Amino acid sequence: MIHRPRILRASASIRKIVQETILQPQNLIAPLFIVEGENIEEEIPSLPGYYRRSLDKTLEEVFVLFNLGIRSILIFIKCPDERKDNEGKEALRAEGLMQTAIRAIRKHIPEMIIMTDIALDPYSMYGHDGIVKDQEIDNDTTIKILAKMAVSHAQAGAHFVAPSDMMDGRIAALRQSLENAGFHNTGIMSYSAKYASCFYGPFRDALDSAPGFGDKKTYQMDPANRKEAIKEVLLDVHEGADIVMVKPALSYLDIIREVKNATNIPVSAYHVSGEYAMIKAAAQKGWLNEDQAIMETTLSIKRAGADLIASYFSKDIIRILNNL
Ligand code: PBG
Repeated sequence: MIHRPRILRASASIRKIVQETILQPQNLIAPLFIVEGENIEEEIPSLPGYYRRSLDKTLEEVFVLFNLGIRSILIFIKCPDERKDNEGKEALRAEGLMQTAIRAIRKHIPEMIIMTDIALDPYSMYGHDGIVKDQEIDNDTTIKILAKMAVSHAQAGAHFVAPSDMMDGRIAALRQSLENAGFHNTGIMSYSAKYASCFYGPFRDALDSAPGFGDKKTYQMDPANRKEAIKEVLLDVHEGADIVMVKPALSYLDIIREVKNATNIPVSAYHVSGEYAMIKAAAQKGWLNEDQAIMETTLSIKRAGADLIASYFSKDIIRILNNL
């Protein structure tokens, strides 16, 4: 026998020196859900072990994340029902929770990279990512508002804006508005290939943002499509995206790899709420070893080609890495 591949698997040390994919804290983006009020830390029922926090508690959490080596957070806010409308008014308010949170985090932990969600669904009385006209999502009106939203986040101090809405032409619109407003250093992480997925369920519970009518299939992508993902990604690169994203991650590992091969900018992947909930639920039943499931799935996302991974398991991953 000339080839004995088992030689490279014979001991923990050998396995370690030939390990191809290595997860590091700086690969992780920690999503955070912020609510109005004070001293609030409420567990999200469909995301066990994950919380909605008021801003004071969020600041404490961001300190913890930074000390663990995490360098980026992706923030979402929960908007009270009475301030939801079909115009995105609350999304643009300079004293809104998002803008206030950005300013506070930037002030207290200046080195943490703040990425902000750009989409109207948390603020929409219809739970849709854009402005609704005659039961349809009006693309061109929406991107004008999203561009204002991006400028408002940049004004508050966001390092990156992260449009998750899947409207056409929004990256160009955001980039142009940021340039016009003098924000030459604000990055754009685009949710370029975002699929219409059932795995967003727990997230919509967290923000109370489920669509009130219909679904999101006229803007989010069909899970059957692969070439279309590359089309979306190349458009976003052309329009000025700094980082492109594939979302969800686990059912779309093939897409992550193709996007990685098709571009020369960083690729991120969002290991979404439903993917987290599946592992949590199986672990609670004793059907899976939670820590092993976390590491295997997260490694697979990085191996597929993701440079950055948005994950509700970020803290767990670092705890596990530190104990290896
Ligand atoms: C909304 C948005 C969603 C997620 C991130 N931004 C939900 C949706 O599109 O309905 C999902 C994230 C997750 O499930 O973890 N624009």
